[in-house]
Amino acid sequence: MTIRTVGVIGCGLMGSGIAEVCARAGYTTLVRELNDELLARGRARIEKSLSGAVDRGKVSASDRDAALERLRGTTKLEDFDACDLVIEAATENPEIKRRTFTELDGVCPPHAILASNTSSIPIIQMATATQRPDKVLGMHFMNPVPVMRLIEYVRTLTTSDETLEAARVFGESLGKRIIVSKDRAGFIVNFLLIPYLTEAIRMLEQGFASREDIDVGMMLGTSYPMGPFTLLDFVGLDTTLFIADVLFDEFKDPRFAAPTLLRQMVAAGYLGRKTGRGFYDYQSGEQPPSVR
Ligand code: 3HC
Repeated sequence: MTIRTVGVIGCGLMGSGIAEVCARAGYTTLVRELNDELLARGRARIEKSLSGAVDRGKVSASDRDAALERLRGTTKLEDFDACDLVIEAATENPEIKRRTFTELDGVCPPHAILASNTSSIPIIQMATATQRPDKVLGMHFMNPVPVMRLIEYVRTLTTSDETLEAARVFGESLGKRIIVSKDRAGFIVNFLLIPYLTEAIRMLEQGFASREDIDVGMMLGTSYPMGPFTLLDFVGLDTTLFIADVLFDEFKDPRFAAPTLLRQMVAAGYLGRKTGRGFYDYQSGEQPPSVR
């Protein structure tokens, strides 16, 4: 099957990045948000990112304009009736996701593949909300989507070979490398990443080392582009806590238990870059250590 038209649910940080890479790769791309204000904000984010790519010489000005031409916003799910693939990147709420998949199943053509960008919720929960569980899979993009070269695919017990193959061709056409995981919480990347990040928080909590030294240690010691606290602020402390809780719920393994400091920082609204304060206080001009 050939994918020509892609629908994206949600135009927040991840949804806008996904829409951008789809439009850039030549797909007619339709993005759905809850209202016009969120759509306008999402489109502005995409325009800024594409212009940044032009400034960096990654995209020509005419390719940027062509990508923007291929991109359309809507507030109505019914407009997805011509989509060959829909990628859901909405709020990490299992009930909302199940409802969205049931609605998509009613609207999209029978051949359409339905994917979720969830970072941790089992995909089978969404597959069983549809009458096409063979055509449902996880497509977990990494943040920032236009820059990160990976998409982690999640195959459920019901995902068919044909669906996985069509999705693989599509993902590679975006210029991404595809890896495939079975359907369990955390998939591959977050199963390893989240305990690493929470272990760094525990080191800090125990007064073992400073956040700067832990960050510099991992950047210079292992060539990670960001240390764990810089990455936590980048990903969002609320997102990290949510995933840690999902992992703990599924495996009941103490290595996934969220540290008290993380829970308290989320309660205080210190969510990272998006609120101006996380492990570093960006509002007061603090910056993570640089090793350049
Ligand atoms: N389109 C295309 N390319 C772009 C671009 C855009 N909109 N914006 C930047 N780039 C390119 C730049 O040109 C540059 O390319 P080059 O290496 O060929 O020169 C490259 O991207 C890096 O850009 P910058 O030089 O501006 O930025 P940095 O070098 O400071 O890197 C970073 C920024 C890519 C965010 C890097 O710090 C990084 O990789 N950090 C780690 C990010 C990470 O781990 N993400 C995964 C988080 S986990 C996740 O998402 C899962 C979730 O479930 C939690």
